[in-house]
Amino acid sequence: MFRPSRRTLLKSAAVAGAYGAGMALLPRIHVALAAPNPILLEARNIDTMLDGKGLTRKVMSYSDGRSTEAAPPVLRVQRGEKFAATLINTLDEPSTVHWHGIRLPNDQDGVPFLSQPYVYPGDRFDYAFSPPDAGTFWYHPHCNTLTQMGRGLAGMLIVEDRNDPVFDGEVALNLRDWRLGGDSQFIDQFKPRDAAKTGTFGTVRTANWQLAPTYDAPAGGLVRLRIVASDVTRIFNLKLDGAEADIIAIDGHPVPERMPLDMVVISPGQRLDLAVRMPDSEGGVATLADIRPSTPKAVASLRSVGTSLKRDLGDLGPLAENAGVDIDMANATEIPLLLSATAENAGKDSICGTLGYSFWAINKKPWPGDSADPMDPIAELKLGKSYIFNVENVTPHAHPIHLHGMNFKVIASNKRSIQQPLVSDTYLMLPDEKVRLALVADNLGDWVFHCHIIEHQKTGMTGYMRVV
Ligand code: C2O
Ligand code: CU
Repeated sequence: MFRPSRRTLLKSAAVAGAYGAGMALLPRIHVALAAPNPILLEARNIDTMLDGKGLTRKVMSYSDGRSTEAAPPVLRVQRGEKFAATLINTLDEPSTVHWHGIRLPNDQDGVPFLSQPYVYPGDRFDYAFSPPDAGTFWYHPHCNTLTQMGRGLAGMLIVEDRNDPVFDGEVALNLRDWRLGGDSQFIDQFKPRDAAKTGTFGTVRTANWQLAPTYDAPAGGLVRLRIVASDVTRIFNLKLDGAEADIIAIDGHPVPERMPLDMVVISPGQRLDLAVRMPDSEGGVATLADIRPSTPKAVASLRSVGTSLKRDLGDLGPLAENAGVDIDMANATEIPLLLSATAENAGKDSICGTLGYSFWAINKKPWPGDSADPMDPIAELKLGKSYIFNVENVTPHAHPIHLHGMNFKVIASNKRSIQQPLVSDTYLMLPDEKVRLALVADNLGDWVFHCHIIEHQKTGMTGYMRVV
């Protein structure tokens, strides 16, 4: 996953004499990524090693026909440029792709029944959009989601901006677990009693489908570490040992003020971008660890190579900005959204899978499952108008709540102070937290709002907003 940065490439070009002294005057070239257009993204079953012991059968992955890794490819596009991908479904069940965090037209959003037909085995579906925001995003199915994501379908989508500061390297980390038994094969994806609480945890933890991998990066250099929490359940408390790092973006969006990384919580659906200052000495290691469990677990490491570049975190210019969320507070309409537990209305059978239980609800209504006649929208929003979601979590569990198609701004919480402006698409609701999320309804269509602990999503904690 390590890729040389523009800086490294420019440097080697200069060494090779290709640009000579005029280099600094050249437009900032962008190397590579003459992606075939569209990318052919095949969802398929494979057998691969995940636990370091044996082959796991019927793992699901995406292939773009170019990456040689078993894990889904890291897709890249420039902000504002056209991204096109054709999903080719060779699974033996229907699927779709949702582009998490990307503001795109409703019919490209990948929610079966609501925004597109599900894609049958053997069929394909063409996605195309031009992402307006730069940052770290990801993609995953929205059909039989617990099984399909649980078995591997989740990849990173990186939207680059040519004006971003120059790093000496970049590492993308896709963090997720697997529910495997001692024989390396999948076990039941969930336990009902856990689905009614925190969700069911995996048994094998991976980064980029590997057990605590190590990536090389230039000694003393600045590395952009892009992290996505793609696990269906796990919330991470991340800490970095052995190197200094700054948090530079959360959920794709640059933070207003960089802060040194002490410990940071990221929950399913969320992303985190760090600027890591690599150790000076060759072989020096920085280790990212999850300290949420009582025994901290190594997630991945970076190892210094070469002689120190002697860079400084303070040298790093700001990330290119995203549009932000411009609220008309004086005229904003408030919408209450209550997250609660329920036992009513066990999920209905659906071609996109049901867990057969109902444990959770939004505004007292448990989502019955994906179907051709979904329940009414939670609210109808008027295009261009401002809204404040007053979300209240009255359960004793945390819920990373996610809105499709639009960004919101977190205005206030009764539990923590919010660095302003915090723009996001996924917010971790703590137990008993009340939060105000402000947004402008600037994207037409039906947009799902759900918990990203997939068992919660699939047992009721889902609804949608209609923008008309
Ligand atoms: Cu990651 Cu409904 O989404
Ligand atoms: Cu939840």
